[in-house]
Amino acid sequence: MIVPADLVLHVVTDKHELLALMLREWGSHKMMIDLHTYDVAEIDALGLYTEAGETAALASWTLRDDTAYLCALHSLIPGEGVAIRMLNEVIWAARRARAKKLRAMLTNDNIPGLTFYQRRGFRLSALYPEAIDVYRSVIPSIIKTGYRDIPVHDALELEMEL
Ligand SMILES: CC(C)(COP(=O)(O)OP(=O)(O)OC[C@H]1O[C@@H](n2cnc3c(N)ncnc32)[C@H](O)[C@@H]1OP(=O)(O)O)[C@@H](O)C(=O)NCCC(=O)NCCS
Repeated sequence: MIVPADLVLHVVTDKHELLALMLREWGSHKMMIDLHTYDVAEIDALGLYTEAGETAALASWTLRDDTAYLCALHSLIPGEGVAIRMLNEVIWAARRARAKKLRAMLTNDNIPGLTFYQRRGFRLSALYPEAIDVYRSVIPSIIKTGYRDIPVHDALELEMEL
């Protein structure tokens, strides 16, 4: 069993694992939030690792003006608190960078993500109907279906005050 507090935090310098995960689960390593595109290959990433060196969670974030954008948050060991620890690390990093808000994007299918973020204090801030369809017309590899085969069309944004 994982003890989230025992995981070791590192800045991710070799992003191969994160980019491969994003390509597999999202179809691109670019993410659109607030009508702005972020390439996870180019922005900061953090990782949590077990003592044995196994990856437990990966996150990618960046700062624009006074808002921090959470561009990816992936747990590789679900249901044991590692994503909560990873999110907390991003929140602290964003606060240290003097961000006032943290914003994230979810696709319409992502009910587990919606639950996870709202349980952590995020509030819904925007809905962009068909944004993912438009994005897919530029990047055709973006997934067409997601959680429980729900068709992926729309972008939901959530934010929290820091
Ligand atoms: C959404 C996602 C990040 C959640 O990851 P996770 O590792 O399962 O999440 P956690 O284990 O940290 O938290 C889930 C639950 O486990 C509970 N939990 C279990 N063991 C725990 C422990 N030891 N310590 C703290 N919490 C624990 C938490 O309380 C939480 O329940 P709650 O939300 O009802 O309070 C994960 O499903 C995922 O990677 N999804 C795919 C990518 C994605 O959609 N990311 C979001 C958009 S970028």
